[in-house]
Formats: sequence, C-alpha cells, structure tokens
Amino acid sequence: MQVTHADGNPSLDLHYVRHESQSVGDGVVQTNVYLKDPQYPFEVTMHYKAYQKEDVIEQWASIKHAEKKPITMQKYASANLYIPAQTYYLTHFHGDWANEMNPSEIQLTEGIKILDTKLGTRADLFQPPSFLLSLNQPADEDRGEVIAGTLAWSGNYQLAFEVDPLHNLRIIPGINPYASAYSLAPNQEFTTPAFLFTYSTQGKGGASRSLHRWARKHRIPQGQGNRLTLLNNWEATYFDFNEEKLSALIKDGKKLGVDLFLLDDGWFGNKYPRNDDHTSLGDWQENAKKLPHGLGYLVKEAENTGIKFGIWLEPEMVSPKSELYEKHPDWVIKLPNRQEYYFRNQLVLDLSNPKVQDFVYEVVNGIMTKNPTLGYIKWDCNAVIYNAYSATNPNQSNLFVDYVQGLYKVVERLRTKYPTLPMMLCSGGGGRVDYGALRYFTEYWPSDNTDGLERVFIQWNYSYFFPAIASCNHVTDWGKQPIKFRTDVAMMGKLGYDIVVSKLSETELQFSQEALKTYDRIKPTIWQGDQFRLSSPYASDLASIIYVNEKQDQAIWFSYLVKSRYKAGSVAPIKLKGLNPEKNYKIQELNVYPGSRSDINTNKATYSGNYLMTIGFNPQVSTRRESVVLEVSEVK
Ligand code: DGJ
Repeated sequence: MQVTHADGNPSLDLHYVRHESQSVGDGVVQTNVYLKDPQYPFEVTMHYKAYQKEDVIEQWASIKHAEKKPITMQKYASANLYIPAQTYYLTHFHGDWANEMNPSEIQLTEGIKILDTKLGTRADLFQPPSFLLSLNQPADEDRGEVIAGTLAWSGNYQLAFEVDPLHNLRIIPGINPYASAYSLAPNQEFTTPAFLFTYSTQGKGGASRSLHRWARKHRIPQGQGNRLTLLNNWEATYFDFNEEKLSALIKDGKKLGVDLFLLDDGWFGNKYPRNDDHTSLGDWQENAKKLPHGLGYLVKEAENTGIKFGIWLEPEMVSPKSELYEKHPDWVIKLPNRQEYYFRNQLVLDLSNPKVQDFVYEVVNGIMTKNPTLGYIKWDCNAVIYNAYSATNPNQSNLFVDYVQGLYKVVERLRTKYPTLPMMLCSGGGGRVDYGALRYFTEYWPSDNTDGLERVFIQWNYSYFFPAIASCNHVTDWGKQPIKFRTDVAMMGKLGYDIVVSKLSETELQFSQEALKTYDRIKPTIWQGDQFRLSSPYASDLASIIYVNEKQDQAIWFSYLVKSRYKAGSVAPIKLKGLNPEKNYKIQELNVYPGSRSDINTNKATYSGNYLMTIGFNPQVSTRRESVVLEVSEVK
C-alpha cells in the first residue's frame, strides 16, 4: 500500500493490533488481522478466508480512516505473498479476440515481471488475471509445487512478481494503480478485490482440481446445480431475422433437443433499429418491425414448443446513434474537448454514476418483470474504456475502480432478485472471465472462436482455473472439423449450438440428437467430476482429458488428434488418472457417428483401475478417428 494522508504525509506505518479466527461455514475459517498506523486514524484489516476442504485461500484487505479530509491511496494491492524457492516458473496467458488464453512459461529472473490491463472493462482481452507459478522446476501436470492464483476483479488489474535480492519471490496482485490514485473519504470503507490462490504439491492438475471444487461449491451461482443446453441464433442469422424466422428456429431447437433458445444481438431499437453494430445500444425496446408482438410472444412461442427462451443484452454500453445517448450524453464515458473514440462503434456507460446503475438494473429488471418466465440472459460487453472521464464523478481517478464496483452493485441486485436466473458472462468472446464476475454469473463464454481444433487449446487453458460446468461451448460452423469433432469438444463443458439446424444433413441431425441425449446422461460427471488432463496438445499429437465422478464408478474420457501429419495419432496407450485402482471397469465408445463402427465397442474386456492407470488404454485416435469419447464405467 502507498497512501498520502489528508495532511500530505506520504507514508504509512502499519502496526499489528490483534487478530481473530472464526468458522464462517462448512470447512471455511476466516482470519482477520487488524493493523493500525500509530500516528494517524488509519486502519487496514487483512482478511484470509481458508477453504480447508478445497485447499483454497481467498485474501483481501479492507481500508478505513477517520482523518479530517479524504486521503489518496496511490497503491492498494490485495495481497503480498512471500515465497522462498530456488527458481520460479511463471505460466501466464495472453491473446486477443478469437485467440484467447495462449500460455507462456518463463523463468522469473531478478527484478519485476508485471502482468496487467488498462482496458477498464474487457480486462481479459489481452491477458487474464490468472497465473500458475511453479517452484524449483517448470510446471508439471502431476508433480511439483504449483501455486495457481487469480484476482477476482473484472477491471484494471496488476499482478507483480518480484524476485528480490534474497532470491525470494513476492507476488503482489491487486487493482492496477495506473490512473487510479483513489480518493477515500473519512469513514468510508474500501475493500480490495480478493486474490484467490491454491498451493498444490501435485502440479498443475492438483491446483486446478482444487480451484474447480472451490468454484463449484463456494463461488459460481448454482455451481453444483443444473445448466441449460441451448440453441443460439447469432451465427445462424446475425442481425437479419424476424418473428417468423425466429419461430422456425425455436422449433428447430426443440427438434434438436436443447433446453432453451437464445436470441442474440439485433432485437431492439426503433428510432435507430439495430441492424448492424453501429447503432441502438441503450435502446432496449423490441424493434417493432422485427418483433411486432414483442419478446413476450417469443417466450410463449418457445414455451408452447416445449423449450425456454433467453435473450442477449449488452446493458453497460451505448451506441453514439441511440436515443439513450441523445437523452443522457452525461451518462457516457468520454472526454470533454476530445473527439469520441469508439471500440466496436460504441461507448461505455458511466457505471460510477448511481443513476446509470439504476438504469442498467432496470434494463434487466424491466424485461424480467414483463417476461417472468424468460429463462436466460447472455450479458455481453464489447468495448473497452477509451478517454476515461466521468461527467459526474468528483474524483476522475476513482473512475476505473468505481466502474467495476458499480457493475458489481448492479449484478448483485439482480442476483438478489433473480437468484436462479442463468446468466452468461460474455465479452466479445472471452474478454471478461474472472471470479469477481463469476460470483454472479452461472457460466462464461470462453471465445468467439468455436473452431473445434482451436477450442481444444482454448478450453484446455481455461480449465487450469475454471470448472467445466461454467464453460459455454457451442457447436458452430467454424473450422474444418466434422460435426462429431466439434460436438465432442463442446461436450467438455456446457453444451450449446449456434448452427442452422435445418441445414444439417439427416445423419448430422441424427448424430446431434443422439449426442444431446448422451450428454444428458453423462453431464453430471463432466460438470461435477474431477478433471485430469492426460495428454497435452502442446506436447503430443493428442489432447486427452478425463472427468471422473466422485464415486469413481464412471469417467468420461475425451481424446482429439491435434496434429494431422501422416501417421499422427495414438500409438501408445494413455495412462488414465483418478480411477479407483481396486475397481474393475469396462470401456465403451460414445458419440459414434451413424454408419461408422467402433472397434472399442466390440471389446468386451474389463480392466482394473490399477491396469488402466499404470499400463493405460489406447483410445485409437488417428487421422481416420480424430476425436474419440469413451465412457469408463465400473463393472460390479
Ligand atoms: C460478441 C459475442 O461474443 C458474440 O457471441 C455475439 O453475442 C456478438 N457479440 C453479438 O454482437
């Protein structure tokens, strides 16, 4: 922390006062350490919530003072971990739109390595606030000491890794101090975002499984509950649709066998109809030409067909061509005396303004009140903050922080009123995936890139931190892989579709309908089971991942060919993980494409868990079988 006191003194001297620990839930113990400056009425409390069963610690600080005037916080990190080891290997992730989550592993040298964002909203666009840190050796999937850490914050963050002269490492995660010297009024409490971390002696795999268990049980709404399969119309229609077209698509969704139809961008705006991405954000009224009978009609239409109905919204945003902008130019983040600068032709609303918070809340609440059975919200966020300036915030340098806090206030209110409403966290692909927002959202959109092969890599990397149940994976027309490959990949999470069902061949439709039924049966193991990454697509021809249920009597095992050179494929057996060595298992192939034959399904052998984990089994992935899903189930 670095603070300038009300009298201009730029120093802080925090002394220990006392601490206390108490149980705050099943296996959860919170420790608070109280600190105080002897010269100033300035207090900091360090909070440590230990999730003992899941091996995760959530750490944050709260800051308060009773000085005569506001103080300025120049820096206010969430934690400062001090780690002694010989060498430190940092795996961090980077990318861009449709190219999210590329890993890089580097050995840290003396000095500071900083990961950060200054984008304001879509904080993850270039790099997410999540990392793996391996001690004394490069990170291994199963062995060695690994810390997985992530900051629960959807705005500007900074993760600093400093190897000091004693060769110890400081990890300092927090809000990015960039343009954010924060003015704190007397007696106002400031709470930093939480830094979440786990320490594993079983490599990256152990660390991920701890975070997954923690997230399902303690963080993500209904993390141990249900999710809806869906058909989305974005890539099927883009902005070009009407009631008739949508009614047909809804029927197609039912025919396919999904739980819900999701209407994407383009359904709103009248003075400026939303027919492309240049207009209408902010005018959240049904477009009378496209939807003459309103959303309510479509909700009913879906319900009569036997599925639910959901909609896309981007309520934090405003188009320069919109009635909202015309009415409330002071609600828009933009600099006076500067030309407006757009990202995807749009601007960001000033969520530090309580009136804007109320507006954004009412956008969703109004639609829900009118359509109480609306079953799903996809919440998008496609622009970053350029030219940061608020027309109403008295402290401009509070804006980046107040924005995120304002957003959380809105979604918190919505969650309180609609505790079970499924909500997807989307940000022009995976531009916003963090545990700050995932306190309110049931699921996230990893990337607009739904190419099956690309997705193997993207989902692989998200899986270090986020559980399968929260990953929205849609089967689309992206990429060259056959529909079986794309479906298999999408099943490693929450399955959805964004295709024109009526254009599927009879066999493709039959395969997809069967796949949805299979998914319904096996999804509890994918969603709630332990995930083991068996073969890395970065190190071999194959990507292979298995999900094992708690009872260890069922596992779902996915393998993909990721290199297509002559004779690429699995020549050696893959050793499974997570099974019970004492149990006996049989292996059955799932998602077998109609008309093809599975050699595995003619094999009636049983194998002990011990055999499968020490000798292994060959999933027979090859250039002729690029994607194989196997069910490993106990034989009693
Ligand atoms: C970006 C999202 O990632 C897409 O899925 C889609 O909803 C578009 N926005 C709509 O504008």
